Amino acid sequence: MLDLDTIDRLELAVLPTPVQFGRRITEDLDGPRIFVKRDDLTGAGGGGNKVRKLEYVLAEAVASGADSVVSIGVTQSNAMRQLAGTAAGLGLECHCAVITDRFGIDTPDYREGGNIFLTRIFGARVHPCSESDDQRAVIEDIAAGLRSEGKQPFVIPYGISSVTGALGYVRAVREIADQMEPPAAIIHASGSAGTQAGTVVGGAAYLPDTRIIGIDVDAAPERVTDDVGRLSGQVAARLRLETSDLAGRVEVVGGYAGPSYGAVTPEVLEAISLFGRLEGLLLDPVYSGKAAAGLIGLVRKGRFSRDDKVVFVHTGGWPGLFAYRSEIAADLGPG
Ligand SMILES: Cc1ncc(COP(=O)(O)O)c(C=O)c1O
Repeated sequence: MLDLDTIDRLELAVLPTPVQFGRRITEDLDGPRIFVKRDDLTGAGGGGNKVRKLEYVLAEAVASGADSVVSIGVTQSNAMRQLAGTAAGLGLECHCAVITDRFGIDTPDYREGGNIFLTRIFGARVHPCSESDDQRAVIEDIAAGLRSEGKQPFVIPYGISSVTGALGYVRAVREIADQMEPPAAIIHASGSAGTQAGTVVGGAAYLPDTRIIGIDVDAAPERVTDDVGRLSGQVAARLRLETSDLAGRVEVVGGYAGPSYGAVTPEVLEAISLFGRLEGLLLDPVYSGKAAAGLIGLVRKGRFSRDDKVVFVHTGGWPGLFAYRSEIAADLGPG
């Protein structure tokens, strides 16, 4: 396998992120020992999992001579926020196509608060678009407009989930392998597949006996499984990793997303409350909260033994809490 350190990368994240034992959540769930990999603390742009992907993707952008970046996400995209924040620090003009109608929530908090608010503070230009638009055509149009102004844009796919981006999570697994004894499982939110493609390949390379479990946040576990399978194969090929059982390592668990992406379920509200009250950790209702709901659900179903160590990768997303403020506040109750 290629040495990861031979691939161009910008140091954008605060690494290594800590692995912390969740003593109180472990006691409360009375199951395996739960460790939290604090990828919410990657720093740049408010932190989260995308900064690791951007270390590789923006290295490629800078090497190509780009002076601007173009990508696409929903109104409350953590990816756009982290792209805008890291691009700002590098002096790259950032253009975000923002899908404003992916789901029905239409409150001022959702439309203007949370991630989109921070994305604008980082100076990104926002280009509203619709879920029904062809994503690739939308970002290519923006890029064509920039080229006609003499600029050199670099186009980044939804979720920063390219082969290059996924390398960030191969590296994250190497980091975990350096930080602790091999855990029984690594669990994290999975949507556009880049994070899990990286952890699956990283698992094959550095933690072969550890299960990699992605919790589907898109309410589309079959699609996520297919995407992770395809992308992890491409990542393994990019790294020239010889492995025969990559497909067997792809484990995507459905049933915790609710009826649709972004739906606020009783299970996600419970997860947000438990991690907040017991560990002082901020989860979001769309990603890390869904992953935690999946972790809690699997523990309660007895899927792990008490001797197991389970790593929950906290992928960030806290600004989303402010977009769903009223839904979450209603659950907290008075005082
Ligand atoms: C906070 C957070 N966690 C997890 C994910 C899922 O990562 P991926 O899209 O690589 O599957 C995302 C993606 O947007 C995210 O913002």
